[in-house]
Amino acid sequence: MKDSDFPLKPWLKGLPPYTPGKSLAEVRRELGLKGPIYKLASNENPLGPSPKALKALEKALPQIHRYPEACNQELLEALARHWGVEPQNLVLGNGSNEILDLLVRALVREGEEILVSDPTFLMYQKFAQAAGARLKKIPLRDYKHDLEAFLRALSPKTRIIFLDHPHNPTGSVFSQTQWETFLSKVPEGVLVVLDEAYGEFVRDPEAASGPQTFKSGYPIAVVRTFSKAYGLAGLRIGYGLLPTSLARTLNALRQPFNVNLLAQVAALAALEDKEHLKKTQETVWEGLDFFYRELPALGVRPLPSQANFLLVDCGQPARPIYEALLRQGVIVRPMEAYGFAQHLRISVGRPEENQALIAAWKKWLQGSS
Ligand SMILES: Cc1ncc(COP(=O)(O)O)c(C=O)c1O
Repeated sequence: MKDSDFPLKPWLKGLPPYTPGKSLAEVRRELGLKGPIYKLASNENPLGPSPKALKALEKALPQIHRYPEACNQELLEALARHWGVEPQNLVLGNGSNEILDLLVRALVREGEEILVSDPTFLMYQKFAQAAGARLKKIPLRDYKHDLEAFLRALSPKTRIIFLDHPHNPTGSVFSQTQWETFLSKVPEGVLVVLDEAYGEFVRDPEAASGPQTFKSGYPIAVVRTFSKAYGLAGLRIGYGLLPTSLARTLNALRQPFNVNLLAQVAALAALEDKEHLKKTQETVWEGLDFFYRELPALGVRPLPSQANFLLVDCGQPARPIYEALLRQGVIVRPMEAYGFAQHLRISVGRPEENQALIAAWKKWLQGSS
């Protein structure tokens, strides 16, 4: 059999690989940079992991010849206490990505529909395509989810609506009132998934809250992660807050050891390290405020964000700016893959990283980069 002859599922042909932000090692190698490199491209925690998580990891390392717990009751109970829900409402995943994937695998048959915004977090599309589902894309309205257009797009074949909140890549949110009005009009049989990967960074008191909505009885799925505010992106752990029957199904469907031993112990320690979370939030909020002050002076428009990144409208093709920053060791995210050729997405870094970005941008503007 030739390589091209494998009887692939037809909908998997042309499935594109995910394009992650460039890693530090890649940039150093490709550009031969010697000086410091600042990665402001993947919305990671600028302060690094919690010191308590690092200690827990050190203690757990000699145990890695053992399988991890298939169902880490201690972590589930800690998360349940954290949100005021029952452990039976929780499912742990290999990153929150795995929860998104499991939801599609559990609920969507070939030919059925998934609704998402356009643009949005790119993995929803991949999971839909892997399931042979039809993806309906609802254009953003003023850089926000257009909830009314979602309702108009529903059909008897719709099974899941994915809403990233804050939205990636704009950082926008909707209010609790808008959200509850929307939910009251979604018919039974359609699961609404609120993906709050950046939920810990929300400052707007009016913004919708997934856990609060879940607790008030709406049968939604809320997805959260330890990759962002908790600084554990490299370990891969996230979770879903789900109606009990759905949680039971996902727990049966997932691989038994989907979350590795180190991720489990680090997540428990990180969740308990309130001080590190607070420091992280303050760093991000101060960084956002810094960018809101500095970026307009460079002739570009930062969009209001409730996440740990912000989208910047450069008013011109953004690729040359991206490349100029990269040559100076500052990695941001170009947005062509999201249909935003004039925009860059900047993850908030430590103060010196944020300053380095502004300095590099100024240098490019002066034509000397
Ligand atoms: C909106 C959104 N959801 C989910 C994820 C996945 O995060 P993880 O799988 O690391 O938990 C990301 C990561 O960038 C994201 O931006």
